[in-house]
Amino acid sequence: MNNFTFYSPTEFVFGKGTEMQTGELVRKYGASKVLIVYGGGSVVRSGLLERVKQTLAQTGIPCLELGGVQPNPIDTKVYEGIDLCRREGVDFVLAVGGGSVIDTAKAIAAGVPYEGDFWDFYIQKATVSSALKVAVVLTIPAAGSEGSGNSVITKVSTLQKMSLRAPELLRPRFSIMNPELTFTLPPYQTAAGIVDMMAHIMERYFTNTADTEIADRLCEGTLKAIITEAPRVMADPKDYGARANIMWSGMIAHNGTCGVGNEEDWASHFMEHEISALYNVTHGAGLAVIFPAWLTWMASHHVEKVAQYAARVWDVPVSEDLKAMALEGVARLKSFFTSIGMPVNFAQLGVEHPDIELLVEHLHANKGEQVGCYVRLGRKETREIYEQAL
Ligand code: NZQ
Ligand code: ZN
Repeated sequence: MNNFTFYSPTEFVFGKGTEMQTGELVRKYGASKVLIVYGGGSVVRSGLLERVKQTLAQTGIPCLELGGVQPNPIDTKVYEGIDLCRREGVDFVLAVGGGSVIDTAKAIAAGVPYEGDFWDFYIQKATVSSALKVAVVLTIPAAGSEGSGNSVITKVSTLQKMSLRAPELLRPRFSIMNPELTFTLPPYQTAAGIVDMMAHIMERYFTNTADTEIADRLCEGTLKAIITEAPRVMADPKDYGARANIMWSGMIAHNGTCGVGNEEDWASHFMEHEISALYNVTHGAGLAVIFPAWLTWMASHHVEKVAQYAARVWDVPVSEDLKAMALEGVARLKSFFTSIGMPVNFAQLGVEHPDIELLVEHLHANKGEQVGCYVRLGRKETREIYEQAL
């Protein structure tokens, strides 16, 4: 196990009706003027936005709104939010929504006190040294941004989808997680969220670090819980218990717990981010296509941990033929994704003829000549994995 620092100060307030505590939590964390950020309208239709505004009104803390954040959020909305906050003297950004809304809120929070272009943070030209406070009312378990210090934004003019990591400053002060708020999710978004959280665990699981027993078991156990709860939630979107387990799994998957002490991989995420940047697909659906392709490639190039994963997560019988075990594990993963309505190849994702040369070019231009850690992947290898996903 490697040395690590694990610091995760977010206050999680979980359960039925918890959004009614928003105002009091905003006051507790010292806000004097709040920007509420939300998406394309689901929180308006469900009445959640109105309820949140009422709890803020009861505290007397003034608030403004910025709606219209789109999935795969873009830089132009961030600039709009930064201008608004500066003009109005906002000191607290409250995201009411999913990963796209939260990541936009984080980008705004980092951008307001910075004199340069906020995009500098996403291309490693600058590091975040101060930020407005951020908090969350979560409506979809998927990206895990409610517990992470990360933000992922796409720059429209260059189609670069890049991430920023600033856990000290951008982890939400509090995250309200009421599973009932996820009852209205369309099945496709529920399923894509399930894939995304599984991917967050697997990115951490596939490591060459030795002596990761505790991390391995946390990963395997959380994956098994998700695999058990997913069919329940797909069958009955209003099953509170299943929704609750899935919602908390999404947080556990990405707040760092599952990977402490590990060298993590993240090649599949980088490869997917290029797909969603170019073709604007749902992130989790893109991962359902890329992760099995990555695992299949690994079965031929670095099989050990893939075989362990097949045995422990997918109950594949242990044998001496590690490659056969690994491939059976991948087959079970794919049939699980198919069972919840997710695509497992480019055509099913709606991208009939992906421009693989362009994906490879963008990937390595944006993320470096080599990506991943379990096996370091150059252009030849990432091209083979994209081709595997056809
Ligand atoms: O925009 P509205 O109308 O709210 O609709 C959203 C959106 O269309 C809808 N939705 C959300 N909650 C709902 C709901 N519809 C009905 N009822 C509800 N309760 O779902 C759609 C997707 O929302 P989005 O916020 O895009 O989902 P998600 O949480 O999956 O976020 C995806 C984004 O997060 C990034 C992804 O790349 C993608 O851009 N990621 C962020 C990470 C992070 N910050 O740590 C890590 C991840 O790996 C990921 O890359
Ligand atoms: Zn993800």
